[in-house]
Amino acid sequence: MTDRTTAVEAADNQPLFELLDVEKTYQVTRREGLLKRRKQGLAALDGVRLRIRRGTSIALVGESGSGKSTLLRVLLGLTEPTQGRALYRGRLVTAMRAAGTGFAREMAMVYQDARGSLNPRMTVSALISEPLRHFGICGESDIAERVASLLSRVGLAAEVANRYPAALSGGQVRRVAIARALASKPSVLVADEAVSGLDVSTQAQLLKLLRRLQREMGLTLVFITHDLGVASYLCEEIAIMYLGRIVETGPTDAVLHAPAHPYSLALRRAAPEFFRPISDPLPGEIPSPLDLPAGCRFAGRCAYAQPDCRKEDPALMRHAPDRAAACFHPLPSAAVSEVQHVDV
Ligand SMILES: Nc1ncnc2c1ncn2[C@@H]1O[C@H](COP(=O)(O)OP(=O)(O)O)[C@@H](O)[C@H]1O
Ligand code: SF4
Ligand SMILES: [Mg+2]
Repeated sequence: MTDRTTAVEAADNQPLFELLDVEKTYQVTRREGLLKRRKQGLAALDGVRLRIRRGTSIALVGESGSGKSTLLRVLLGLTEPTQGRALYRGRLVTAMRAAGTGFAREMAMVYQDARGSLNPRMTVSALISEPLRHFGICGESDIAERVASLLSRVGLAAEVANRYPAALSGGQVRRVAIARALASKPSVLVADEAVSGLDVSTQAQLLKLLRRLQREMGLTLVFITHDLGVASYLCEEIAIMYLGRIVETGPTDAVLHAPAHPYSLALRRAAPEFFRPISDPLPGEIPSPLDLPAGCRFAGRCAYAQPDCRKEDPALMRHAPDRAAACFHPLPSAAVSEVQHVDV
């Protein structure tokens, strides 16, 4: 084997993103009684470890407030971890972002509020041309052709180019946001609840589009969703978050069919399914990140909690070659068959 092949293989095996014990603490002011206020640290991310391979698709799933958006901001270098490191191809993301436009060009973001992310005074053509010019993707004479090709790529007719966002439907607006995101020829597409709040058929069309684009363009897709069905359709891998921690990771199908963490199981049971009423809503309320319980932070809602769970917070541990869970008592497969056959 030549030095060159070894170097290429090493680069291929290196994760695209790597989060090493990342913590992100926000300072918040807490009211105590009528007059007293106190500053306190709120750990939005607490000891997060995650590797994302090049060209994969990964869903970040969890209840509201579990830290999904903060994790994305750390990945994109938009916020700096309070502790730990966030790496992109082995280099600090914040340094990559500060170094110039290369990193920004490679990262494309699609927001939940797609309409709000588009300037209402710009036509679709102007909106898509903007990143083409900003990143010098093509010469001025090729811009119109490139806009038309991006529109066609996301399934929109060429005449949409002359319209303003207000004249577009919710689904069309999201397609324009995707075309604009793809204009810079990114290698990573990051989406935060990008198909939430749409009717079922529009959502299905957009998911199909995203899946096709990810495969055709070899994109690495990081997709935030609270919908397990969406995660399962779109993403090869899943990371389930709870109160600032990743509690389970692995291939999406394997995790959803045989969850090892009681929280993953609870999410699975609480998810609406065809022919099955939601019979098991998640028990209890998510605790405040300002008042975390002692030991495992899921203990207060966990049907499998044992006395030792209250003593220490479990770390994310590998229990199969491609799976890890942060639980002292990972679920046996018996619990799994229960999931597959509930009330059908
Ligand atoms: N800028 C901020 N200042 C203070 N607290 C924040 C800030 N951003 C997020 N948080 C808190 O961090 C936690 C995680 O938030 P977030 O990452 O938005 O979660 P998710 O996207 O899963 O809903 C929440 O408790 C949220 O209130
Ligand atoms: S460590 Fe204990 S309380 Fe926490 S999820 Fe596992 S079984 Fe439940
Ligand atoms: Mg969020």
